[in-house]
Amino acid sequence: MSLQREIERRRTFAVISHPDAGKTTLTEKLLLYGGGIHTAGAVKSNKITKTTTSDFMEIEKQRGISVATAVMSFEYAGLLISILDTPGHKDFAEDTYRTLSAVDSVVLVIDSVKGVEEQTERLMQVCRMRNTPVIVFVNKLDREGRPPVELLDELEDKLSITVRPMTWPIASGRRFKGVYNLYDHNLYLFRPGAGRVEQQRSPVQGFNDSRLDTELGSDAERLREDVKLIEGVYQPFDLEAYTAGKLAPVFFGSALNNFGVRELLDSFVRIAPAPGPRATNMREVRPEEDRFSGFVFKIHANLDPRHRDRIAFLRVCSGRFDRFKQIYHVRHDRKLRFTTPYSFMAEKKRMIDSAYPGDVVGLYDRGDLSIGDTLTESEAFTYRGVPRFSPTIFREVVNAAPMRSKQFHKGVTQLTEEGLLQLFSLNRSNRLILGTVGELQFEVIQYRLREEYGVECRFQLLPYEKGCWLQSSDRDALERFIRLRPQQIVYDREEQPVYLARSDWLLQATISDNPEISFEFSSDVTGSL
Ligand code: G4P
Repeated sequence: MSLQREIERRRTFAVISHPDAGKTTLTEKLLLYGGGIHTAGAVKSNKITKTTTSDFMEIEKQRGISVATAVMSFEYAGLLISILDTPGHKDFAEDTYRTLSAVDSVVLVIDSVKGVEEQTERLMQVCRMRNTPVIVFVNKLDREGRPPVELLDELEDKLSITVRPMTWPIASGRRFKGVYNLYDHNLYLFRPGAGRVEQQRSPVQGFNDSRLDTELGSDAERLREDVKLIEGVYQPFDLEAYTAGKLAPVFFGSALNNFGVRELLDSFVRIAPAPGPRATNMREVRPEEDRFSGFVFKIHANLDPRHRDRIAFLRVCSGRFDRFKQIYHVRHDRKLRFTTPYSFMAEKKRMIDSAYPGDVVGLYDRGDLSIGDTLTESEAFTYRGVPRFSPTIFREVVNAAPMRSKQFHKGVTQLTEEGLLQLFSLNRSNRLILGTVGELQFEVIQYRLREEYGVECRFQLLPYEKGCWLQSSDRDALERFIRLRPQQIVYDREEQPVYLARSDWLLQATISDNPEISFEFSSDVTGSL
């Protein structure tokens, strides 16, 4: 098969949601349709416990499982579809943001009872940074949810995206009858029966069909009114606007009851984009270029504490990746060779000889790779867009056993490369500050340093709530700002200065007092703002 054909048949995406909206359930149903899994519950086991009480033993257990489910690929309608898994726990949201840099589109799941939640907004901000095309699935229609028009308004308001309903629900909760497909003009009925719930296609053709009244009773007239209203209010679906990340088609259903999932999948294969061009620091790289390139967006380390092996997940962006071929590691400026690359098909991990744009390859790594690293055939460009957000919790980490200082530094460095934490040095001294977005990470760090590196550590609380990368074209102003705040300036791994603020209020005051300095809340892991 030609490279072009291989690219055209790939669809790589992520299912994202606020925890509990139904991401895992929907993923599982999609995989069942594609034959990617055969038993319900296979994806479920991947979920990190959602309780707020931290349970790092559970996380350790899950870490093993989540390597196997990091990518789930299956074939459907002649396409090779890959779903990249994202952790549900909010403390690991950064992992999700990075995974979003490796997909070509997303399906966003919303709970019809709760609507747009905090994490939904944050995830969409990341999608918008890259203009990632989004399809929305409004889930749990079998529950008494909010009126669909209200939900659509909220989606537009809070997510700053134009929406276009593709299906329309008929009532909800106990009265939920089904959905009407606004494009194919079919009616799908929801039949909650004894034990199993079924989706049935009714013979109704269009909303003027008199059989609609027989099927829906008094809800038929309501549906007719709703459809007229929708056609009047919402612009017709526009593929170009969707592909540009400006318009989100919306589907309604119930993942748990497998209702509306096939419509979602069938539309996905029709409209979701194949791998496209990607930006680097030097030029845009097209997937059909002859020469291979890709970047690392995720690292799983030390699954077996007796070995230091890690698995780096590489997203192929152009050309063909070949096993045994020499590959150029741009950051280290040297050649590497991978003898056992893996792909993830269905429930199995298998060794591969080649991979194409859109594919995710698992590479065994002995410490050469870091999140955000670009690998190419020879060119020295770096992929943009693996995001790093300003942490909200800062602690100084202290090695409790100075005799094991080498292991301590190695452990902290490796956990940083894996993306578990961000590492800063205070005033370029030996004092190490860790920044995270969740409390849970500190427990994981302490546990893993002990288990994998034999090091005990302590954390000292720091009174900061926000960190911002500093930039200015006025070098003198920047130096002055830094000199005046020796305790509040730390440096990241790329030696970029970061300002730590005690509160949002103080940060805002500092920002307005220093107009010549720009305060950035996110940066690229490659170090560029
Ligand atoms: P997440 O990955 O986004 O965190 O959500 P997940 O799929 O785990 O779903 C969260 C809860 O919502 C689960 O219930 C799940 O069964 C339920 N759920 C998912 N889709 C639907 C739906 O369409 N209708 C209804 N009524 N519920 C739905 P749980 O009690 O937390 O877990 P479990 O005991 O069912 O496994």
